[in-house]
Formats: sequence, structure tokens, C-alpha cells
Amino acid sequence: MNRIRIFDTTLRDGEQSPGVNLNAQEKLEIARHLALLGVDVIEAGFPIASPGDFEAVRLIAKEIKGPTIAALARAVEQDIVRAAEAVEQAEKPRIHTFIATSPIHMKYKLRKEPDEVLEMAINACRTAKKYVDDVEFSAEDATRSDWDFLCRVFQAAIEAGATTINVPDTVGYTTPDEFARLIKYLQENTPGIEKAVISVHCHDDLGLAVANSLAAVVAGATQVECTINGLGERAGNASLEEIVMALRVRNDHFKADTGIVTEHIYRTSRLVSALTGIAVQPNKAIVGENAFAHESGIHQDGVLKERSTYEIMTPQSIGVPQSRLVLGKHSGRHAFRERLRELGYNLDASEIEKAYQRFIELADRKKHVTDRDIQAIVEEEIVQVPELFNLEYLHVTTGTTAISTATVRIAKGDEIKEEAATGDGPVDAVYRAIDRVTQIATDLESYSLQGVTSGKDALGEVVVRIRDNGNQYIGRGTSTDVIEASARAYLQAINRLVYDRQVKAQAQANPEGVATKGSST
Ligand code: KIV
Ligand code: ZN
Repeated sequence: MNRIRIFDTTLRDGEQSPGVNLNAQEKLEIARHLALLGVDVIEAGFPIASPGDFEAVRLIAKEIKGPTIAALARAVEQDIVRAAEAVEQAEKPRIHTFIATSPIHMKYKLRKEPDEVLEMAINACRTAKKYVDDVEFSAEDATRSDWDFLCRVFQAAIEAGATTINVPDTVGYTTPDEFARLIKYLQENTPGIEKAVISVHCHDDLGLAVANSLAAVVAGATQVECTINGLGERAGNASLEEIVMALRVRNDHFKADTGIVTEHIYRTSRLVSALTGIAVQPNKAIVGENAFAHESGIHQDGVLKERSTYEIMTPQSIGVPQSRLVLGKHSGRHAFRERLRELGYNLDASEIEKAYQRFIELADRKKHVTDRDIQAIVEEEIVQVPELFNLEYLHVTTGTTAISTATVRIAKGDEIKEEAATGDGPVDAVYRAIDRVTQIATDLESYSLQGVTSGKDALGEVVVRIRDNGNQYIGRGTSTDVIEASARAYLQAINRLVYDRQVKAQAQANPEGVATKGSST
């Protein structure tokens, strides 16, 4: 069995998804889950991009044990030095340096001749090697590069110290058979390639990222770069859960497997969705809500007789909680804590207490509280930022012919503030009243409302995205009352914004950063 290394880039390429803006604590929480999931490498970020990115990589490098922690750097000295500084406390540090090798990128983006690019690749690997043993080199836009030039660049990179060479399909342009041929060509025509790990990094512009990555594995690649839920630039990257489960379910075919603890997949997917605010489409393979739902009578009949008639893997194998009924309102803390543990949450005492109070409130309003309800409550609580503003009370009057009016009472530390406002509908009225309390002018970029489970008393989940100075902040709120869920979501986004402003003000007071987020890949 061929062991395939899983290089997770959710925190770097995934974080480049439009609208995603994770703070350091949120990134750390995701990194913790990735470590439990058993990924081999966590690409924690692009330290030169901003002081915030740098700090997040440093924090992850310091805290997370087990996986290799990689930091991205362009093939220039200042990036590499910054990346080295960010991963210096890691148990297993890696510097991942890259430069584009395609004629289009070299001519229009870099404005450099191929030989200059080759020189830069060599210098970058040599520089990185001064700081760490584990150096990865990527030839950006490899699939639109000249194959012989790629062989020259990779040979030189390995001679200069690269231990992993990565072949990115940066714009999602290749096809499975073509990509497999490229990997074989590189193996056969790059002197010294046997000393390095061959890695692939596929984007999903044509919906082929997973297929291309798997074709590369068959051709001999032993590291796959991927992200949770397939997040990433534009159409995203190859999805980790699809790669891993394809290799697991069809290891008779691929003769390859990963070290991933598949039972942690679902929970990690939910966490990433909760923190990024990017919903998983219901029909998404492996982790979508419908991935294990059987609708047609023939299928249901088959599954009841024998699951394997229509199921090639079990929901348990990826850790989907069974929708069995749980605990009623008389259940004690102990039973609740046990259920949380079974669902895979490892919360501290105060988090458990908060979640328990929400559970009791919910059990009062809703007859059957399911595992999904509990998950939704906990996901709302995993905010990872101090809650400066806290909703204490909400009152709304509305109607088809009435002007919607809202009154809110919000605690800001020890201070209690109350405001009222009218609006174009109840949610608008609540948001205007909240704005009066917080005195923070934001643009509401998007608002979505979804039922967590079915039934008239279902928990409603609101996700909002607000914008401030070009940054976006996500908020999530759940309640059986959708107006309350809307208020909670909005306040959570505002709390994130306030926290981000504080972190930036601190960073300005202690200016360590070199460049801005604009200098990303
Ligand atoms: O897509 C890409 O080429 C990248 C590289 C930095 C590996 O993300
Ligand atoms: Zn990429």
C-alpha cells in the first residue's frame, strides 16, 4: 500500500477564498482539528502577506504538535526570512517557496526570462535551506509550462535543497490523463527526482481538481495538496475529504491510502464551514447534507435490506452524527457533556456551561433536540473572539400593514444599553437598533437563513457577512426564533470586527509586519 501524504492548505489557499477572513484564534482552532484529523502537513499561511498572517502562522507553529507546519514564501529573500521566522518554533517546520514557470506568467506577471526564473528558484531553495531542512518548491502554473523547462527547474531546485517538488495546476486547466503524463514525464526526465517527494496541487476551475490529483497519485505523486470542503482561490482546491475517501474506499484500485482519521472528517468540515461562513452545498460528495440521504423508494428499500446496495461507505466512517434523539430538558449537565464528547467536541468548562444553557433554552422551545441541533449550538459558541456585545433582550412588533419596530437591550461589558428603531421588516429594524447601540457603521454584505433540521419548531441558522474597510466578518446565530438568530448572527459579526480592529491597533503599536494582504499569490 502506497502511503500518500496529505498537505492541507485550508489555512492558506483556502483562506484566499473570496470573503474568508479568519483571525489567528480561529486559524488555531482549525489547525487543532487538522492535527486530530491526522494531516501530514498544515500550510498555516503566507507570513509576508500581513502581520496578522505572520502571527497566525507563528501561533500555530508554536502550539500544534504532530503535523509539519509549512509557511508559504515567494522566491524572494524577504518572504523566505519572514516564513522562517514564523515557523521557527514548529516541531517540524517547512518553508514552501514558489515561482511561476509558465510562459504567460513569466512574460506578463514576472516580466522575467526563463533563466532568471531558474536562478530565482535556485536562490530561493538555497536561502530556505539555511533555515530549515524541509524545503518545498512549487513551479506555479506548472501545467501551462514547458515540460522540459519544468524538468530543469525541478532538477535545480532539488540540487539547491528542495525535498518536495510541487506541481500545481494553478488555474485548474489540466485533465487527468494529461496530468498523469506530466507526472510520469517529470519522473523520467528530471535527474535526482527520486530524492524528492512529488506533490500535486490542483485547482477546480473545470471541476477536475480531485480527478487530476488522483490521476497524479496513480502516476506516482505521493503528496496531495488539498483543502477542507474544497475551499480555495476561485473555484477552490481539490477537496481533502474527497481525495481521502476515494483512496480509502477504492484502495483496491489505487493501492494507496493516507494517514487520515476519517471519523474526524465531518466535524472538521462543519467547523471550517462555521468559521469561514461558507456553506457546504447539500449535494457535496462526502460531507454534504444529502451525501447519505436516500430519496427514491427503490433506493430506500435496497438500503433497508442491505446498506451496501446503495452505500459505498458508511456515514459513521466520516463521523456523521446519527440523528437520534438526544436528551430532553430534564437531562443533566453530565449527560449533555457526555453527548458533546461523543460528538467529538472537546470544550472547556465555561464553554460547556454556555452550550448547556443554550441547550436547556432550546429544549424548552423544541420537543426533540437532535444531534444536529446540538452541533449548531456549539458551532455558534465556537466564536474564538471576546464577546464585547451580548444580546440580553429583544422585542419586535411587525405585521403586513405595520411598520416593523425593534427594541434591543445589549450588554457591553458591565454597561447595559437599550435602543429602538423602525425598519423595512423586522430584521432591518433589529439591525438598525443594534447599530444604534454599537455605533459601528457596517455594510451588510449578505444574509442567509436555513433550517438546521426539519419541522415547524426547527432551529433556524442565520449567517451574515458584514464589510468594514474592505474586510469581511462572518457571524452565525441559531434560534427557533429567526429574528433572534438574526440578531445573534449580526452581533457575532460585529464582535469579530471589533476584535480585528483591536488586533490591528496592537499590531500598529508594535509594527512587525512587512507587507499587506495585497502581496498574496
Ligand atoms: O495554485 C498555486 O499555484 C499555488 C502555489 C502557491 C502552490 O497556490
Ligand atoms: Zn493554489
